[in-house]
Amino acid sequence: MLLDTHGRTATDLRVSLTDRCNLRCTYCMPEEGLAWLAKPELLTDDEIVRLVGVAVGQLGVTDVRFTGGEPLLRRGLVSIVERCAALASRPRLSLTSNGIGLERVAVPLREAGLDRVNVSLDTLSPETFERMTRRRRHADVLRGLAAARDAGLTPVKVNAVLMPGINDTEAPELLAWALAEGYELRFIEQMPLDAQHGWQRAEMITAERILAALRHRFTLTPEETRGSAPAERWLVDGGPGRVGVIASVTRPFCRACDRTRLTADGQVRDCLFTREESDLRGPLRGGADDAELAELWRRAMWGKKAGSGLDDPTFQQPQRPMSSIGG
Ligand code: GTP
Ligand code: 5AD
Ligand code: SF4
Repeated sequence: MLLDTHGRTATDLRVSLTDRCNLRCTYCMPEEGLAWLAKPELLTDDEIVRLVGVAVGQLGVTDVRFTGGEPLLRRGLVSIVERCAALASRPRLSLTSNGIGLERVAVPLREAGLDRVNVSLDTLSPETFERMTRRRRHADVLRGLAAARDAGLTPVKVNAVLMPGINDTEAPELLAWALAEGYELRFIEQMPLDAQHGWQRAEMITAERILAALRHRFTLTPEETRGSAPAERWLVDGGPGRVGVIASVTRPFCRACDRTRLTADGQVRDCLFTREESDLRGPLRGGADDAELAELWRRAMWGKKAGSGLDDPTFQQPQRPMSSIGG
């Protein structure tokens, strides 16, 4: 088990498969991109499957999510999924993607054993999409989403970040669209994880504002069960449709956090916001056996802090940007 000193157990592993991305979302990275990890620094497919196996087989992890950057850019993705699905105690497998290229691989991913996907989409307008992501790929994302739904990678969740003066009036429209398409929409408060360090608390669109805007058009009834999920959820107009809000800034859920993370270069992170990482790649390449790797992972999680520290006046962003942590 991956326990910490605050009584939490990490059963949910997020694995970043690459730090690269084919979009340039303004709240994430600069136009020119970032200094990408070099190939030898990345874990190989075998190394990823081995570490997922340790997490599932020895550390009690039950859920594995593949992230990026953009995980569909990783050549071996389908095979990694297939091999993780074949592990002795099969974990639930999910993917968080920007949707580009999903149209082509939704069925192969499903056949490989992927259970579900979350796709980022912040706007229904192709022009606003281009402004926010600096790429003209809106239609690809819509096709990717439909392909995921049709392949049974459900529930398909859509993640939307609202930016002031850009797409912040779109919340009700986005929800009406998601309900009609059969996707579960979640709004995410913008977090201070961008490489450019441009985040400003005063400019962030808060959960409270999002909910107020939605209530002009819909009746929202809070769902009772939340568990360790980052999203608070509401039934829309009596259900069965739902909407979620991930309010990491104004209503943090750290007390119930069940997450551990593995970066594309083999570092364990105990929190999205931590500034400390524990290396597994070195020991792995140095010949450590599974029991030794498990012990290093346990030690890495034990010191997990109680909260993200976002409200602390001395808060400092992690050195690694969101795109390289994997959300
Ligand atoms: P589900 O299991 O489908 O609910 O997945 P998820 O919401 O955990 O995953 P997803 O990758 O779609 O992430 C949605 C948002 O939640 C992203 O902005 C993540 O950065 C944020 N998020 C995920 N894990 C954490 C976490 O441990 N702490 C905080 N503060 N935010 C997180
Ligand atoms: N704040 C909040 N969410 C973000 N994402 C990327 N950067 C940020 C940020 N600074 C979202 C993406 C994706 C998810 C994994 O995280 O839109 O949906
Ligand atoms: Fe790419 Fe995701 Fe960052 Fe957008 S938020 S640039 S899709 S890694």
